[in-house]
Amino acid sequence: MADPNSRSGVRYADGAILRYADELHAPHDEALAAAAEAPERQGLPAIQVGPSEGRFLQLLLRLAGARRVVEVGTLAGYSAIWMARALPTGGVLYSIEVDPRHAEVARENLTRADLAARTEVRVGDAAEILPELAAEGPFDAVFLDADKARYPVYGAWAAENLRAGGLLIGDNVYLFGRLREDSDEARAMRRFHEQAAEAFDTACVPTPDGLLVGVRRTS
Ligand SMILES: C[S@@+](CC[C@H](N)C(=O)[O-])C[C@H]1O[C@@H](n2cnc3c(N)ncnc32)[C@H](O)[C@@H]1O
Repeated sequence: MADPNSRSGVRYADGAILRYADELHAPHDEALAAAAEAPERQGLPAIQVGPSEGRFLQLLLRLAGARRVVEVGTLAGYSAIWMARALPTGGVLYSIEVDPRHAEVARENLTRADLAARTEVRVGDAAEILPELAAEGPFDAVFLDADKARYPVYGAWAAENLRAGGLLIGDNVYLFGRLREDSDEARAMRRFHEQAAEAFDTACVPTPDGLLVGVRRTS
Protein backbone atom coordinates (compact mmCIF):
# COMPACT_ATOMS: atom_id res chain seq x y z
CA MET A 1 0.00 0.00 0.00
CA ALA A 2 1.21 3.51 -0.81
CA ASP A 3 2.80 5.28 2.14
CA PRO A 4 0.62 8.40 2.76
CA ASN A 5 3.66 10.17 4.20
CA SER A 6 5.77 9.80 1.09
CA ARG A 7 5.92 11.82 -2.13
CA SER A 8 6.89 10.15 -5.41
CA GLY A 9 8.02 7.12 -3.45
CA VAL A 10 10.59 9.18 -1.52
CA ARG A 11 10.20 9.64 2.21
CA TYR A 12 12.84 12.02 3.52
CA ALA A 13 16.41 12.87 2.66
CA ASP A 14 18.75 11.58 5.36
CA GLY A 15 20.98 13.77 7.48
CA ALA A 16 24.04 13.28 5.25
CA ILE A 17 22.11 14.40 2.16
CA LEU A 18 20.69 17.43 3.98
CA ARG A 19 24.18 18.39 5.19
CA TYR A 20 25.59 18.03 1.68
CA ALA A 21 22.83 20.26 0.24
CA ASP A 22 23.13 22.84 3.04
CA GLU A 23 26.91 23.07 2.65
CA LEU A 24 26.67 23.44 -1.12
CA HIS A 25 23.69 25.77 -1.46
CA ALA A 26 23.56 27.57 1.89
CA PRO A 27 27.14 27.72 3.21
CA HIS A 28 27.88 29.62 6.39
CA ASP A 29 30.37 32.45 6.52
CA GLU A 30 31.77 33.54 9.87
CA ALA A 31 28.74 35.73 10.77
CA LEU A 32 26.14 33.09 9.93
CA ALA A 33 28.11 30.41 11.76
CA ALA A 34 28.32 32.61 14.86
CA ALA A 35 24.57 33.34 14.78
CA ALA A 36 23.74 29.65 14.22
CA GLU A 37 25.88 28.61 17.19
CA ALA A 38 24.82 31.48 19.47
CA PRO A 39 21.67 29.88 20.94
CA GLU A 40 23.50 26.81 22.28
CA ARG A 41 26.57 28.79 23.30
CA GLN A 42 24.56 31.45 25.11
CA GLY A 43 21.80 29.36 26.66
CA LEU A 44 18.98 30.33 24.29
CA PRO A 45 16.66 27.76 22.69
CA ALA A 46 18.22 26.41 19.47
CA ILE A 47 15.05 26.75 17.37
CA GLN A 48 16.21 28.86 14.45
CA VAL A 49 15.45 27.96 10.82
CA GLY A 50 17.87 25.62 9.05
CA PRO A 51 20.49 26.88 6.57
CA SER A 52 18.47 25.94 3.48
CA GLU A 53 15.35 27.64 4.86
CA GLY A 54 17.39 30.77 5.59
CA ARG A 55 18.78 30.74 2.08
CA PHE A 56 15.29 30.14 0.66
CA LEU A 57 13.94 33.16 2.60
CA GLN A 58 16.78 35.23 1.17
CA LEU A 59 16.03 34.17 -2.40
CA LEU A 60 12.29 34.82 -1.95
CA LEU A 61 13.04 38.37 -0.81
CA ARG A 62 15.37 38.89 -3.75
CA LEU A 63 12.73 37.61 -6.18
CA ALA A 64 10.17 40.00 -4.67
CA GLY A 65 12.62 42.93 -4.85
CA ALA A 66 11.93 43.43 -1.13
CA ARG A 67 13.12 46.65 0.53
CA ARG A 68 10.95 46.78 3.65
CA VAL A 69 10.51 43.56 5.60
CA VAL A 70 9.06 42.55 8.97
CA GLU A 71 10.10 39.46 10.92
CA VAL A 72 8.16 38.26 13.96
CA GLY A 73 10.51 36.22 16.18
CA THR A 74 14.19 37.23 16.06
CA LEU A 75 15.86 34.81 18.51
CA ALA A 76 19.63 35.23 17.87
CA GLY A 77 19.28 36.92 14.48
CA TYR A 78 20.13 33.93 12.28
CA SER A 79 17.17 34.21 9.85
CA ALA A 80 17.47 38.01 10.10
CA ILE A 81 21.02 37.82 8.70
CA TRP A 82 19.87 35.72 5.73
CA MET A 83 17.00 38.10 4.99
CA ALA A 84 18.78 41.40 5.60
CA ARG A 85 21.46 40.32 3.11
CA ALA A 86 18.76 40.25 0.42
CA LEU A 87 17.94 43.93 0.89
CA PRO A 88 19.32 46.72 -1.27
CA THR A 89 21.00 49.80 0.22
CA GLY A 90 18.30 51.79 2.00
CA GLY A 91 16.26 48.64 2.68
CA VAL A 92 15.29 47.74 6.23
CA LEU A 93 14.34 44.62 8.16
CA TYR A 94 12.29 45.21 11.32
CA SER A 95 12.57 42.16 13.54
CA ILE A 96 10.35 41.83 16.62
CA GLU A 97 11.46 39.89 19.69
CA VAL A 98 9.68 39.64 23.05
CA ASP A 99 12.70 38.42 25.05
CA PRO A 100 15.22 41.22 25.75
CA ARG A 101 18.09 38.73 26.15
CA HIS A 102 17.37 37.21 22.72
CA ALA A 103 17.19 40.70 21.23
CA GLU A 104 20.56 41.62 22.76
CA VAL A 105 22.24 38.51 21.31
CA ALA A 106 20.59 39.20 17.93
CA ARG A 107 21.88 42.77 17.85
CA GLU A 108 25.42 41.49 18.57
CA ASN A 109 25.12 38.99 15.70
CA LEU A 110 23.67 41.56 13.28
CA THR A 111 26.46 43.99 14.14
CA ARG A 112 29.06 41.26 13.58
CA ALA A 113 27.46 40.63 10.18
CA ASP A 114 27.76 44.36 9.41
CA LEU A 115 23.98 44.62 9.11
CA ALA A 116 23.21 47.03 11.96
CA ALA A 117 22.40 49.82 9.49
CA ARG A 118 19.69 47.87 7.71
CA THR A 119 18.11 46.04 10.66
CA GLU A 120 16.04 47.22 13.59
CA VAL A 121 15.29 44.81 16.42
CA ARG A 122 12.16 45.97 18.27
CA VAL A 123 11.72 44.48 21.73
CA GLY A 124 8.22 43.59 22.89
CA ASP A 125 5.17 41.49 22.21
CA ALA A 126 4.53 41.42 18.46
CA ALA A 127 0.80 41.93 19.09
CA GLU A 128 1.70 45.36 20.49
CA ILE A 129 4.63 46.25 18.23
CA LEU A 130 2.98 45.41 14.90
CA PRO A 131 0.27 48.11 15.18
CA GLU A 132 3.03 50.66 15.93
CA LEU A 133 5.05 49.45 12.93
CA ALA A 134 2.14 49.95 10.53
CA ALA A 135 3.17 53.59 10.08
CA GLU A 136 6.46 52.41 8.47
CA GLY A 137 4.60 50.37 5.82
CA PRO A 138 3.43 49.21 3.42
CA PHE A 139 5.86 46.30 3.49
CA ASP A 140 7.21 43.97 0.83
CA ALA A 141 7.40 40.85 3.01
CA VAL A 142 6.40 39.58 6.47
CA PHE A 143 8.03 36.47 7.97
CA LEU A 144 6.29 34.82 10.94
CA ASP A 145 8.36 32.64 13.25
CA ALA A 146 7.11 33.25 16.81
CA ASP A 147 4.22 32.13 19.03
CA LYS A 148 2.13 29.85 16.82
CA ALA A 149 -1.30 30.47 18.40
CA ARG A 150 -1.08 34.12 17.35
CA TYR A 151 -0.38 33.45 13.66
CA PRO A 152 -3.98 34.45 12.71
CA VAL A 153 -3.45 37.85 14.39
CA TYR A 154 -0.09 38.35 12.67
CA GLY A 155 -1.48 37.08 9.36
CA ALA A 156 -4.37 39.56 9.49
CA TRP A 157 -1.90 42.37 10.16
CA ALA A 158 0.22 41.21 7.21
CA ALA A 159 -2.82 41.17 4.90
CA GLU A 160 -3.46 44.82 5.79
CA ASN A 161 0.11 46.04 5.69
CA LEU A 162 1.68 44.26 2.73
CA ARG A 163 1.64 45.86 -0.70
CA ALA A 164 -0.13 44.02 -3.52
CA GLY A 165 2.34 41.32 -4.60
CA GLY A 166 4.00 41.37 -1.16
CA LEU A 167 4.99 38.12 0.54
CA LEU A 168 3.59 36.46 3.63
CA ILE A 169 5.84 33.65 4.87
CA GLY A 170 5.05 31.52 7.91
CA ASP A 171 7.31 28.86 9.43
CA ASN A 172 6.17 25.76 11.39
CA VAL A 173 2.76 25.75 9.76
CA TYR A 174 2.48 21.96 10.28
CA LEU A 175 2.65 22.90 13.99
CA PHE A 176 5.32 20.31 14.80
CA GLY A 177 3.03 17.60 13.42
CA ARG A 178 0.03 18.73 15.49
CA LEU A 179 -1.83 20.75 12.81
CA ARG A 180 -4.80 18.36 12.58
CA GLU A 181 -5.27 17.98 16.34
CA ASP A 182 -8.29 19.15 18.29
CA SER A 183 -6.59 21.92 20.31
CA ASP A 184 -6.82 25.72 20.45
CA GLU A 185 -3.32 26.05 19.01
CA ALA A 186 -4.07 23.71 16.08
CA ARG A 187 -7.38 25.47 15.39
CA ALA A 188 -5.54 28.80 15.37
CA MET A 189 -2.94 27.50 12.94
CA ARG A 190 -5.63 26.09 10.65
CA ARG A 191 -7.37 29.49 10.79
CA PHE A 192 -4.08 31.07 9.72
CA HIS A 193 -3.84 28.70 6.73
CA GLU A 194 -7.44 29.44 5.69
CA GLN A 195 -7.15 33.19 6.18
CA ALA A 196 -3.91 33.24 4.17
CA ALA A 197 -5.51 31.25 1.34
CA GLU A 198 -8.29 33.86 1.17
CA ALA A 199 -6.15 36.98 0.81
CA PHE A 200 -3.02 35.52 -0.81
CA ASP A 201 -2.04 33.13 -3.59
CA THR A 202 -0.51 30.47 -1.36
CA ALA A 203 1.64 27.38 -1.37
CA CYS A 204 2.57 25.26 1.63
CA VAL A 205 6.12 24.06 1.03
CA PRO A 206 6.80 20.68 2.70
CA THR A 207 9.92 21.66 4.63
CA PRO A 208 10.37 19.53 7.79
CA ASP A 209 7.66 21.56 9.60
CA GLY A 210 5.93 23.31 6.68
CA LEU A 211 6.58 26.78 5.27
CA LEU A 212 3.59 28.76 4.01
CA VAL A 213 4.35 31.25 1.24
CA GLY A 214 1.69 33.68 0.03
CA VAL A 215 1.67 36.49 -2.53
CA ARG A 216 -0.78 39.30 -1.64
CA ARG A 217 -3.58 39.46 -4.17
CA THR A 218 -4.57 42.84 -5.54
CA SER A 219 -8.27 42.33 -4.75
C1 LIG B 1 11.63 30.14 16.49
S1 LIG B 1 12.34 31.48 17.33
C2 LIG B 1 12.80 32.56 16.00
C3 LIG B 1 13.93 32.03 15.19
C4 LIG B 1 14.48 33.01 14.18
N1 LIG B 1 13.42 33.48 13.29
C5 LIG B 1 15.55 32.34 13.36
O1 LIG B 1 15.19 31.45 12.55
O2 LIG B 1 16.74 32.65 13.53
C6 LIG B 1 10.96 32.30 18.02
C7 LIG B 1 11.27 33.60 18.74
O3 LIG B 1 10.04 34.32 18.89
C8 LIG B 1 10.05 34.97 20.15
N2 LIG B 1 8.64 35.24 20.50
C9 LIG B 1 7.74 34.38 21.04
N3 LIG B 1 6.55 35.00 21.21
C10 LIG B 1 6.71 36.28 20.78
C11 LIG B 1 5.85 37.41 20.71
N4 LIG B 1 4.59 37.36 21.12
N5 LIG B 1 6.33 38.57 20.20
C12 LIG B 1 7.64 38.64 19.75
N6 LIG B 1 8.50 37.59 19.81
C13 LIG B 1 8.04 36.43 20.31
C14 LIG B 1 10.75 33.98 21.07
O4 LIG B 1 11.26 34.64 22.22
C15 LIG B 1 11.83 33.42 20.15
O5 LIG B 1 13.03 34.14 20.28
